[in-house]
Amino acid sequence: MVLPLVETVADPSPAREIDYCRALEEGRILFFPGSPFELPEAERAVLLAQRQSGAGYHKNIAYRPAQDRVTGFARGTSADAERLRGALRLYSRRATEFAAWLLPRYARSWRVDLASFRPEEEEGRELPRRSRNDLLHVDAFPTRPTRGDRILRLFTNVNPAEARVWLTGGTFEQIAPRFAPPALVERARRDGLADRLRRLARWAGLDVSVRSPYDRFMLSFHHHLKESAEFQRSVEKRQVEFPAGSTWMVFTDMVSHAVLRGRYALEQTFLVARATLVLPDKAPIAILERIAQGPMS
Ligand SMILES: [Fe+2]
Repeated sequence: MVLPLVETVADPSPAREIDYCRALEEGRILFFPGSPFELPEAERAVLLAQRQSGAGYHKNIAYRPAQDRVTGFARGTSADAERLRGALRLYSRRATEFAAWLLPRYARSWRVDLASFRPEEEEGRELPRRSRNDLLHVDAFPTRPTRGDRILRLFTNVNPAEARVWLTGGTFEQIAPRFAPPALVERARRDGLADRLRRLARWAGLDVSVRSPYDRFMLSFHHHLKESAEFQRSVEKRQVEFPAGSTWMVFTDMVSHAVLRGRYALEQTFLVARATLVLPDKAPIAILERIAQGPMS
């Protein structure tokens, strides 16, 4: 198995857009050694002073660009909350502007999803197994189904001194045929009670998103990978270090990943429309449909 590679981009340019799309869609990580956009010192200082809400309910501090709203932080004064919101708003805007400049093909119809800030040290963090970041997995969102669209994430390590350390395993194409039990695929193709209730709620006019078979599979596969000792042990893996101040971009629904060490990472998510992919046959939904021998959307 050939592991996903890191492709260093020293001098980003939209003229190479197709090459970047191809690299991302083949499961490579685009790595920008110096951050390609600026986050001013004042905003950095606000972020480095953050603590997370102690309730354990929120895994990260989240910023919703569409509502300009922050959740998951330890409440201080309203001036603190305002400064944090300002810093996350600025990161989200600059990250989105940069990604849209570099990858206009995706940006034409992507949905700009949440941004997040991860102020906690990841090493030794105590979280429920399915929420743990240090176990290899591919991403799937429990409350925001993508129906086959892709999860593209841009990360920035704002730690002033220390690297963020990841482990990467295989791509979806490499691990799904080997580690997805056929029963998981079969179950995803059937509507469960929760899906029927969601459909009913939507029919009644509530703002509830309904999961497709693809979303059901991706969520259960995410859980299965974290819970499978055999997968965690036997999949070939490689450690990747992202130094202080660097930025990287990756389709996290495709490249299996875990975070071993590091604190103070920022992240902006984009949901890339399936129709804008350069290599649609490499998309997890296409691979899954080949495995299932039928539609999953
Ligand atoms: Fe993840």
